[in-house]
Amino acid sequence: MSDIHCIGICTGGGDAPGLNAVIRAAVKAAILKYSWKVIGIPDGFDGLIWPERSRELTLKDVSGILPRGGTILGTTNRGNPFQYKVVENGHEVTRDISGDVINNAAKLGIDAMISIGGDGSMKIAHELFLKGMKVVGVPKTIDNDLSATEVTFGFDTALHTATDAVDKIHTTAESHHRVMVIEVMGRDAGWIALEAGMAGGAHIILIPEIPFSIQGICQHLEMRERFGKRFTIVVVAEGIKLPPEMRHMARSMAVGNMIGDAIALMARKEVRVSILGHIQRGGSPSPYDRILGTRFGVAAVDLIAEGGFGKMVCLQQESIRAVPIAEAVGKLKVVDPNGEFIRAARAIGIAFGD
Ligand code: F6P
Repeated sequence: MSDIHCIGICTGGGDAPGLNAVIRAAVKAAILKYSWKVIGIPDGFDGLIWPERSRELTLKDVSGILPRGGTILGTTNRGNPFQYKVVENGHEVTRDISGDVINNAAKLGIDAMISIGGDGSMKIAHELFLKGMKVVGVPKTIDNDLSATEVTFGFDTALHTATDAVDKIHTTAESHHRVMVIEVMGRDAGWIALEAGMAGGAHIILIPEIPFSIQGICQHLEMRERFGKRFTIVVVAEGIKLPPEMRHMARSMAVGNMIGDAIALMARKEVRVSILGHIQRGGSPSPYDRILGTRFGVAAVDLIAEGGFGKMVCLQQESIRAVPIAEAVGKLKVVDPNGEFIRAARAIGIAFGD
């Protein structure tokens, strides 16, 4: 007989389409399969600093949220109860309030927690687990760069948004014979840039994993001109490492603009830049993300029932599994510069500026 009667659920870090699918699935599975009570914690683990802000989540509360972007619980990517920032005597100081967070969860009657978040949230979840909290994790990031899981929900929706943008920019680029630079998200890994670039027929893709030069980009533009192609689409991941010739420049503006200016200067071409930004994090989740989120939500509840605390659900070989959070954090899944993806892209003439 399980000693679980009530679970808490929170979302931390940057939001991603599909978070509500996870919340809905976890609430439904907890109530319908196990007859547990569910408490929604607002704004990540920070919500447990003020337990009175938490509220019970019923089937009614999660009705209709499946197609909604964002998270009904709210989130923050600044909170960390182990390094909580407070102002004391006019000075900002850092305090460890993790003990309060654990006590407040107990006061709310929470027997176990589901933490939905990225690498940062998983690190916090692991530390709370080491301090005695019964917690399981659900991985999330639109960047798809967590090594423990083949896919994170949110990526597919972001990829659709970015690909749609590349498609739209294609026609205006061609009409005006311009170089169009499109900056997409991807702080450490180039998955969105690579896949949206491939899906949208981009000509040059710049990702953090492949060093490039402005000269390399311009050579490709010239080659395209020789073939009668007077326009070029360049997809840039926000996390690219600037080439040595640009490293003295402060990264005070979006890298897409910096790359656009550098191309305009060297190639003497008319360049326009679009920074997609947070558009990629919003919108209704794709069917794939709704389904993956649902599977993760149910799996997290099952993991609690099995007593798999300190673990995180993940997708491996297309099956839902669980791995210790300790093994999952801090390991990025980046694009292999010599992998099949890049070789396929190069084989069809896509350049990487190298
Ligand atoms: O990690 C997800 C992500 O969307 C990154 O691609 C991006 O760099 C970052 O979050 C943006 O975070 P914020 O919402 O704090 O601007």
